[in-house]
Amino acid sequence: MCGIIGGVGKLDYRDYLLTGLKKLDYRGYDSAGLAYRKDGKVILKKVAGRVDDLSRAVAPFSGGEVGIAHTRWATHGVPNQANAHPHFSMRRDFYIVHNGVIENYRSLKNLLKDHGYIFHTDTDTEVIADLLEDNYRQKKDVLASISETMGVLRGSFACAIICKDDSNLYFMKKASPLLIGLGKGANYLASDALPMVDYTDKFIDLEDGEYGVLTPAEAKIYIAGKAIAPVVTSRDTARYDYDLDGYPTFMLKEIEESPDVIHCLGDNYFDGEKYLFDQKLIRALRDADEVVFLACGTSYYASLLGVEFMKRLGKRSEAYIGSEWAYYPTLPSKKTVFVLVSQSGETADLILCQKFLLDKGLPTLAITNTKGSTIERKATYSLLLYAGLEVAVAATKSYMAQVVLLALLANAVGGRTSAVAGLDSLIRSLRDIVLRKEGIHAIAKRIFVSRDAFYVGRGHDFAAALECSLKLKEISYIHAEAYPGGELKHGPIALIEKDTPVIGFVSDPLTALALRNNLTELSSRGATVLIVSSEALREEGDSFSYPDVPSLLAVLPEVMFGQYLSYYAALEKKLPIDKPRNLAKSVTVE
Ligand code: AGP
Repeated sequence: MCGIIGGVGKLDYRDYLLTGLKKLDYRGYDSAGLAYRKDGKVILKKVAGRVDDLSRAVAPFSGGEVGIAHTRWATHGVPNQANAHPHFSMRRDFYIVHNGVIENYRSLKNLLKDHGYIFHTDTDTEVIADLLEDNYRQKKDVLASISETMGVLRGSFACAIICKDDSNLYFMKKASPLLIGLGKGANYLASDALPMVDYTDKFIDLEDGEYGVLTPAEAKIYIAGKAIAPVVTSRDTARYDYDLDGYPTFMLKEIEESPDVIHCLGDNYFDGEKYLFDQKLIRALRDADEVVFLACGTSYYASLLGVEFMKRLGKRSEAYIGSEWAYYPTLPSKKTVFVLVSQSGETADLILCQKFLLDKGLPTLAITNTKGSTIERKATYSLLLYAGLEVAVAATKSYMAQVVLLALLANAVGGRTSAVAGLDSLIRSLRDIVLRKEGIHAIAKRIFVSRDAFYVGRGHDFAAALECSLKLKEISYIHAEAYPGGELKHGPIALIEKDTPVIGFVSDPLTALALRNNLTELSSRGATVLIVSSEALREEGDSFSYPDVPSLLAVLPEVMFGQYLSYYAALEKKLPIDKPRNLAKSVTVE
């Protein structure tokens, strides 16, 4: 994954690089480093820690001509100081930061060893620096060396590069995101717009195969040796709100933004009388004989609801995990519409799926929260979630927005407006939960010491259980499983011990009784059963209830309950809630 940032020209480098890096650490945070050139010398600092550790290690300085920085999510080599970026070539001609994976780095390393190169790290990145140097020593031209180097690299890379001989900022890109920001007297680049929005609203999205050079005055971009005219776009910088607004964590803030996000989504796609979706998209979905959802993690769990919405319209529909489908694609019919659901729009596994579909000339709909992201730009149709920036690694409000958008879309395809009426009750229900969150905190205090936990539901309640168990794992480090109520007695019930927490979701009258019976079977075996029910189905002894919402939308109050539960369990365990171990927000490597 990793986040990279660079700048050239008149800049406060310490502030730009460190503040910018902090905004990128959702992409990885196991080590960090920076390099800048000042008075013809390159100064390097790296730490085996987070950006805050780097900030403490970098003494205040002023001036500078060009700078790069990196926050790492380790793929090759443990997260120690040596493996932290920037990496430099053997003779220190080049310093680079890299996001991506060089698949053929072993063979390149052997080749470079034959040329006398000695390696100091376990990373795949070091070969890029040495290849640049090896080519530069022969060609005496940085851009030609970059082009030559790109020609032998296999895999993915977004790189920012400093050469010791000049004060330019060089870059190259393939299959990892990279964006240029155009300023006045300075130019910028980064893995996404967030670190640059305080400096500019003019951006260039780089495409695969592009490389070039930034000077304080201009951006020159090339592909295979030919200069290209860049497309400059403006972005609404207000969208990149990075403030905690008084909250202790982004996760809590983002959970509680959900009602407003849903409200905003309703306004964006419904004008009070009619839906505002592109009619071509609606026709394509109406004509489709199948709608296939592809997504990963939380977005996959949101897609399970997309499947249900489509099935209720009488459409065939399936959801597949992106990383699986990329290797085992089902052969689609010509009338299949593929829906790629991704908060970030940069998930590598999903980009692989999209490539396959693009090669086959099949239409895709991207549902993302990130305008200008790779998946959004390459899709035939695009719908934005308008959820605002989501900083915490845990997807919370983006899940809510995905499910609601899928509901609105299905309604538009079905020619109905009822989901809009349902939205008001949904927003009220979620606001009510926000007000009563201390009740969930009390439950978290009972279960946070547990090693294992189960979420149980049937139908759409099971889909909510899946997402909630993911939240409990990733934020609270509690091993959690989700099962359909009827399935436990076919094996998993053997894991139930005294006091094992089991959270049961009851919102469907069709299965409420059967599910309650399943839960009784578990409490008879010593489990601590905690039932979360809709008010209409509430029974005495239930642990938490929420105001009723229409049918499938019950997953949203249930998932909000699960988000709070994992949040408070992590709080009790004093865990790093916004940045859980081993994870990154945007999974940009396969
Ligand atoms: C969930 O909390 C995680 N952040 C993760 O499962 C995430 O949903 C997944 O990596 C997919 O990301 P995307 O929506 O940006 O494609």
